[in-house]
Amino acid sequence: MCGIVGYIGHREAYPIIVEGLKRLEYRGYDSAGIALFDGKDLKVSKTKGKVVDLEELSEKEISKHGKLGIGHTRWATHGVPNDINSHPHISNSGDLVIIHNGIIENYASLKKALTLREYTFKSDTDTEVLVNLIEDVKKQEKVKLGKAVQIALNQVIGAYAITVFDKNKPEEVVVARLGSPLAVGIGEDEFFIASDASPFIEYTKDAIYLEDEEMAIIRRHKGIKVRKIKDDSIVAPYIQKLQLNLEEIEKGGFDHFMLKEIHEQPKAISDTYRGRLSRDKAIIKMAGVEDNMKKFLNANRIIIVACGTSWHAGLVAEYIFEDLARIPVEVEYASEFRYRNPVIREDDVLIAISQSGETADTLAAIKLAKSKGAFVFGVCNVVGSSIARETDAGAYTHAGPEIGVASTKAFTTQITVLTLMALRLARAKGTINSSDFHRHLLELEMIPKKVEEALKSDAHIRIIADIYKDAPNCLYLGRGYNFPVALEGALKLKEISYIHAEGYPAAEMKHGPIALIDENMPIVVIATKKGHYEKVVSNIQEIKSRKGKIIGIVTEGDTQVRELADHIIEVPETLESLSPLLNTIPLQLLSYHIAVMLGKNVDQPRNLAKSVTVE
Ligand code: M6R
Repeated sequence: MCGIVGYIGHREAYPIIVEGLKRLEYRGYDSAGIALFDGKDLKVSKTKGKVVDLEELSEKEISKHGKLGIGHTRWATHGVPNDINSHPHISNSGDLVIIHNGIIENYASLKKALTLREYTFKSDTDTEVLVNLIEDVKKQEKVKLGKAVQIALNQVIGAYAITVFDKNKPEEVVVARLGSPLAVGIGEDEFFIASDASPFIEYTKDAIYLEDEEMAIIRRHKGIKVRKIKDDSIVAPYIQKLQLNLEEIEKGGFDHFMLKEIHEQPKAISDTYRGRLSRDKAIIKMAGVEDNMKKFLNANRIIIVACGTSWHAGLVAEYIFEDLARIPVEVEYASEFRYRNPVIREDDVLIAISQSGETADTLAAIKLAKSKGAFVFGVCNVVGSSIARETDAGAYTHAGPEIGVASTKAFTTQITVLTLMALRLARAKGTINSSDFHRHLLELEMIPKKVEEALKSDAHIRIIADIYKDAPNCLYLGRGYNFPVALEGALKLKEISYIHAEGYPAAEMKHGPIALIDENMPIVVIATKKGHYEKVVSNIQEIKSRKGKIIGIVTEGDTQVRELADHIIEVPETLESLSPLLNTIPLQLLSYHIAVMLGKNVDQPRNLAKSVTVE
C-alpha cells in the first residue's frame, strides 16, 4: 500500500509529484505529503486526506519551487491517519527526508535502541524510526547516505520501498525495495521514482524496475547505480521500454474509473484471447502452458490461491477446470493457505491469480509452494509485477490498467485466461471432444459482443438501483458456475456502497439465510438458462413465498422468472461455462449506480487500497 513519487532533474518537481500522486491514489488515500528542496532548504507539507487536500494546503504552506522532491499518498499501517503520521518523515537533525511504502516489523526494538541514544519521535510510524536509523548509522559509521541506507536496511525486518535524500546533498536520491514495488523512470538528465510507471509515463518510456533486495543511488548528472542491499554487489540495471499510454490511465469521458473499466470489458476480454485463440485452426496456444504442458498433464491437482475478487475468479476456474479438463482443483485464500501448513507436493500445480501482481499474501503463498517444489503459474494483469516475476510461468490478462479500487475488468479477463487454459488442457487430455471444443471457441469469440449487449441494460439497472439504494442489506444467490458470481456481486456492493451484502449458493439459502428474508430484503438471483435453471426457479419460488424482493438476472426472452421476479435484467444467452462473463456485468452496474446515488467515492472506497502489499 501507499504510493510514492520522486523527482530529481531540471523541471519543477511539484507538479510532477502532485499529478503522480493522484495517479497513485489507488494505492492509498488517507493522507498525503510532499517534501521539496527549493535550492536552499527543505519545504514539507503534509496532511490527513487526499492529494487535493495536500494541494490546497501546500498552496498556503510552501513555495512549491524546487527541482528535487518526493511525495507520498498513504494507506495507514502504523499510526492512525493524521497530519503527523503522514509522510514524508524527517530525521532528528532535519537533514534526511524519507517516504516509505511497507511495514518495518522490528520498528519497536529499533525505536527503543534509538531512544536510548536520545532520538525523539513525533509520529507513531515505523517510517520515522527508519529515517532516524539511517541518520544514526550515517553519523556513527561516518558514511555517505547510500552506504548508511544499506547498513540500516540490513538491520530491518519487513517490507519496504523507500526514497530518501539529504538536503545537504541535493544532487542525489537513494531508493530501495523489498516486497513493495519501485520503478525509476530515466529521462535526459532527470530521474523519476514511483510505485508504478503511471506518474512518469508522459516524460519517459524508459524505466528500471528494482528487484527485491536492491537499492539504487541516483545522481542527477552521474546516472543510476544499482546494488544488492545484502552484499553490496553491483547489478547491471535492465532498462525496460514501457508500453503504457497516458489515455489508458485517464477517465476518457466517464465519471469514474470504475464505470470506464466496466465499459472496457468487451475490448479487454478480446485483448485477453487475441493471439491465443484461433477458431479457424481450432487451437488455443498459450506460451506459458505449452512450455509446461507436462507439468499440467502430470499434475496431481491444481491449487488456486488468490484474494478478494481474484479468489472469486479462482472459484469460477474450479468449475471450469474440473468440468472441462477433469483436473481436481482446490481454491484457497492466499492468506489462509500461507499460514496453515498445507500439504503441497511436487506434482501439484499452484495457480496464483492477482490483478496487481503485488498482493502480499498471494506472493507469500507462491513462495511457500515453490519451496515445497510445486510448479507455480501466475495469472496477473500488471506486467513485470512481483507475482509475474516470482512465478515459474504465467499468462497475462492484458486487461490494461485497472485504477478503480473495485475490480471489474480484472475479474472477467482472469476468467477468460483461466477458461482458455482449461480448454487447452482439456484438449490435450482428450476430455473434450472437438465439436464441444469448437463450440467453446465460437462462443468465447462472441463474448465481447454479448458483453456490449449486456451493458445496454445500464439505464434499466439505474432505475432498479434507485429503488433499492436505501436497503441496509442485500442477498446474492447463484448456483454452479454462478455461485462465485453471486459472491463477486455481493463484494462489489459492499466495497463501494457500504451496504451489507452476502453471496450464497442458491440452495444453501434454506440452511440459514432464508431467515433473513422479508418484504424489505432485496435478493439478486442469477437465474440464466442452462445449468441449474429449474432448481433456481424453485429457489425463487421459496423467496417469493417469504415476500423477498427479487431481482432476477435472466437470459434474454425468459418468461418463467419474469412472472415471479419483481425486476429482471436480461443478458444474452451463452454456454453455462461462459455465463459468469456475462452475468457479472449487471451486478457491477447495479453496485456502481447504487454507490453513486448514495454519494460514495466509487473509485476510492473508504479503508481500501487497490493493491494490498501488507498482510
Ligand atoms: O491485485 P489482486 O488481484 O491480488 O487483489 C486482490 C484483492 O485485493 C482485490 O481483488 C480486492 O478484493 C478488490 N478490491 C475487489 O474489488
